[in-house]
Amino acid sequence: MRIETRLTAMTALSFAVAALIAGLLSYRVEIGQARAEVNAKAEVLISAAAAIRHYTSDQVTPLVADITGPAFLPQQVPAFAAQTTMLHLRDSYPQFQYREASINPTNTSDRASDWEAGLMSQLRNDATLKELVGEHGSGKSARFFVARPLRVESAACLRCHSVPDAAPHSMLTKYGAANGFGWQVGDIVALQIVEVPTAPSRQKAFNSVTVTVGSIAATFALIQVLLSFLIRQQITRPLGVLSRTARALSLGQSVSQADQVALPREFDEVRDGLNRLANSVALARELGGADRTSPEGKAD
Ligand code: HEC
Repeated sequence: MRIETRLTAMTALSFAVAALIAGLLSYRVEIGQARAEVNAKAEVLISAAAAIRHYTSDQVTPLVADITGPAFLPQQVPAFAAQTTMLHLRDSYPQFQYREASINPTNTSDRASDWEAGLMSQLRNDATLKELVGEHGSGKSARFFVARPLRVESAACLRCHSVPDAAPHSMLTKYGAANGFGWQVGDIVALQIVEVPTAPSRQKAFNSVTVTVGSIAATFALIQVLLSFLIRQQITRPLGVLSRTARALSLGQSVSQADQVALPREFDEVRDGLNRLANSVALARELGGADRTSPEGKAD
């Protein structure tokens, strides 16, 4: 294989490996950053929802209860206020989905799925866990999630969640008496969970990796072209000249005009050496010839 081809192949291979490693590393960094970004936003949303819950239960529930008496308005319910507000927020952040999921829900649309129930029992079993963060599902339906336990922190909640008899009658008419009761202060009764599809983050990470790898590949390609040119100019071409010169000199022929060009210094020195060698050989041959002819001449 020619030197030029071999060197080109070796540099191209190492460049490709370097670009691949850079691509993989940058994908990991990018996806990690995207995840951290989504988590940070999800945590803000969960805290916002918790704040709405507190505001409603501290300020709105007592007020509405005073005004409406036994009549029940869902607007006074913290869960209703938080979930409705978060639904409005989806107008601006459609990818963020907020839910309050319970295994014993007042509103059956808040019923926890098996997966959510699993998260809830993890949080119930380990009181030190403040939240669960991770990825759920695969392919297009894969999602990042942040889940926090929702605890009954005040006895005020028990008006509507202890026994049906304590709850406003009109609430029972709307939601029934079968679910959302039997809760106690301190119980983890639900999950606050924010989910975000992973696909857009992955796509973003992939795009930025494409740009990184693309620019590295373009730089390498440029270096490769330059290297090939330099190898040809500085190594293969002078070596060609040298080998033709050596061939001509060894056959006692004159070096062609085209090969009498300037070469990089190291090759020039080799060419000088070859010329000196050829001259010495020629001289030795001449001397040897003279030595051989004179005794013969004397004998004649
Ligand atoms: C005035 C009655 C009332 C009070 C007080 C109340 N809730 Fe509720 N709660 C409801 C109703 C009604 C729903 C269903 C709302 C809906 O349609 O989304 C609900 C829903 C929930 C949910 C969502 C899951 C489910 O059951 O559907 C959670 C969690 C919850 N409440 C916790 C609490 C906590 C904690 C407190 C105390 C801070 C509280 N609630 C105070 C009536 C009440």
